Amino acid sequence: MSGLIPQSFIDDLLGRTDLVDVVNGRVPLKKSGREFSACCPFHSEKSPSFTVSPNKQFYHCFGCGAHGNAIGFLMEYDHLAFVEAIEELARIAGVEIPRQSPPSKPRTDPNLYQILDVCNDMFQHQLRSHPERARAVDYLKSRGLSSQAVMDAGIGFAPSGWDNLCNALRGRGVSDKQMIAAGLVIERENGGVYDRFRNRLMFPIRDRRGRVIAFGGRVLGDDTPKYLNSPETPAFQKGRELYGFFEVRNRERALERMLVVEGYMDVLALRQFGIGYAVATLGTSTTREHIETLFRTVATVVFCFDGDRAGRDAAWRALENTLPVMRDGRQAHFLFLPDGEDPDSLVRREGREGFEARMDQARPLSDFMLQTLGEGIEVATPDGRARMLERARPLLNRVPGGAFWELMVERLATLTHMSADRVRRLLMDKHAGSAAKPIPSTNVNRTPVRHAIALLLYKPELAVQAPDPELLSTVPERGVPLLLELLEMLRSNPHIHTGAILERYRDTPQEHALAKLAQWSPQIPDEHLAEELHDTLSRLTARHTSRHALLDKLARGETLSAEERDALKQMPRQSEESGDSVD
Ligand code: UTP
Ligand code: MN
Repeated sequence: MSGLIPQSFIDDLLGRTDLVDVVNGRVPLKKSGREFSACCPFHSEKSPSFTVSPNKQFYHCFGCGAHGNAIGFLMEYDHLAFVEAIEELARIAGVEIPRQSPPSKPRTDPNLYQILDVCNDMFQHQLRSHPERARAVDYLKSRGLSSQAVMDAGIGFAPSGWDNLCNALRGRGVSDKQMIAAGLVIERENGGVYDRFRNRLMFPIRDRRGRVIAFGGRVLGDDTPKYLNSPETPAFQKGRELYGFFEVRNRERALERMLVVEGYMDVLALRQFGIGYAVATLGTSTTREHIETLFRTVATVVFCFDGDRAGRDAAWRALENTLPVMRDGRQAHFLFLPDGEDPDSLVRREGREGFEARMDQARPLSDFMLQTLGEGIEVATPDGRARMLERARPLLNRVPGGAFWELMVERLATLTHMSADRVRRLLMDKHAGSAAKPIPSTNVNRTPVRHAIALLLYKPELAVQAPDPELLSTVPERGVPLLLELLEMLRSNPHIHTGAILERYRDTPQEHALAKLAQWSPQIPDEHLAEELHDTLSRLTARHTSRHALLDKLARGETLSAEERDALKQMPRQSEESGDSVD
């Protein structure tokens, strides 16, 4: 599928979608008044401040400020890209996505995935039938991979030679430019291209939806580099992807935990020996995005690292990226392996039971953190205690409040022989940490323009009854053009809801201000809302008429009364600008 998704389709899709169902399938909601509420899935809390409005088709958390419509919710919660979120909603609604063509500028060449898929087939075919295959097969045997494991992983073979792949792809009408974009070939200085992967075992890397997005290629012996990976392409960002993630989710029922290891071979050996829930980073450290992805699927993540210095440093980086996502119920453990071992060698020697027994003994994040922080510190001394808290503070400031934060406070209290209250105070002292994040205020200074927009976002049908905007268009105030635009749009789409209105402003400068105004609920009975809008618009125009009158008076050299002077002073300075913004 390619091309832009027409706005009218998005409007229609949002019209068919019920945000309440979308959220409720993921975060159980309780009815409270006109809205639904739950403990916020985007930050840690004990009492619910996350609300979903069925009328507005908009969610909002009073605690952390998270907000959006159904598309935004899927993007945030399921970690989907914009188009993926629309695809998911279309799937739920059972409708096809029409695409406008020609696409003005698709981010990913639609053929990219097809090209990668063709290559994947070719590599696998070559492992079965290429004249040079024996070396590859022998190597796989020497590594103890079963043929089932090889097939499951889709391992393939790239024979020696500079142009096997590029010639084959050219034969299928793939251009050099497309091959370069797919990361499969390298450009020669004097033009032309040659195969990136030569004489290597090929490991296909899939995205969360199972599409092949890249390859890792291993030498058949001790040459260097041992592994050669596809470069980053529009389809492949190392910091996002986890090797084996799709397979884990696809194969494993009742997933309770996931194991993060460093190598492709580790994932495959573990799987072959019955531990089917391992994934690997792709030669990078573990990113926050990786960790969020994992925690969306399981509540417990076990990180496995070498026991050496490098392994500990890598584990510490993973810990730093884990802290911000340590919401209630989530657990992270760190498993350090004995010298000279990796999961591949260990699981072969100790089997699934042995390896899982090690996992069960893995160090909880809190232990690993406190032990590392305490290195070289005498916590028994007053000086040592102070240093310990100094070291802990910046880390704990990243933790959302809640059970994990409290646990760390308790642990630090025991360790430093202080009361938990004292530790809490000391931690929050310098900058009230994220645990005490102030609730973001939605009380923006409410000008009449903002008030009118907020009313329209609250109840879009009001636009139909609003007075003719002709007079309004002469009012030189910030936000008036936006207000006019909204009025006009709502008059021609009277049944559009708030979530869909905001969708039209995604990635525009007005997005933020509109989302803020959409969070407001008037303390006015519904039947008076039309009148309220009417009054607000009239006040707005009247105010400017009289301002004109006052300025005219001044211009004619007349003096203003004290009252008139005050009135003129109180009129907003920026009222001469007629910018688009309502910020
Ligand atoms: P390892 O060398 O630990 O991988 O590198 P491994 O899976 O145990 O390798 P085998 O057992 O010798 O086959 C871990 C990961 O680091 C990346 C790869 O993603 C690899 O799986 N790596 C390693 C590279 O990208 N390039 C290299 O040259 C080496
Ligand atoms: Mn290894």
